[in-house]
Amino acid sequence: MTSYAVPNIAPHQISLDASAGSLTPSGSTLIRRLSDLAGCFENSKVFKAEFASSNPIVYQVISSAVPEVPRELPQSITTIFPGSCGGELYMTKGHQHPDPQGEIYFGLEGIGGIIMFDGKEKKYVEITSGTIGYIPPGWAHRSINSGSTAYKFLAVYPGSAGHDYGWVLENGMGLRRFSESGKLILKDFII
Ligand code: PA5
Ligand code: MN
Repeated sequence: MTSYAVPNIAPHQISLDASAGSLTPSGSTLIRRLSDLAGCFENSKVFKAEFASSNPIVYQVISSAVPEVPRELPQSITTIFPGSCGGELYMTKGHQHPDPQGEIYFGLEGIGGIIMFDGKEKKYVEITSGTIGYIPPGWAHRSINSGSTAYKFLAVYPGSAGHDYGWVLENGMGLRRFSESGKLILKDFII
């Protein structure tokens, strides 16, 4: 028999608790605070002032026990808390998959979206509870919370995909999502 993960991952049931944003059995939990998002927000002055004063948690990612190794299919739930920095909505760091592989995001609670950028074209896909966002191979992706409650989604992705955060810092994300005078708007991402 071919084995992929070490130790081998046996067939198993994973329970998903949408309100807790958790998967059981679980693997790692990642917490990102505002200070972890250096270079992400357009207004670097407001960004520095806000993380120096309160440094709130922007998002957390709880993974299942399936590891990120080739041929496995890991999953995680991301919870982005509501908020903004200089009017720009709370977001994930955003990354490109070094091994170009597709990914799906399935909306669990709240309202959010995925900004996607392939280096030329840019897209914004809205996600609500029950919708699936498809991220094709070669498209960098960043999630944002566009509502006033926590936005949660399940991600399922090939274990070989990887996370390249440097690509986004170098190439940008194509678009930015702001809340201005109560209106949600998309702006071009100027590098
Ligand atoms: O694999 C994914 O695309 C997601 O699970 C993300 O890693 C998660 O949403 C957090 O985003 P980022 O990795 O850009 O910080
Ligand atoms: Mn990804």
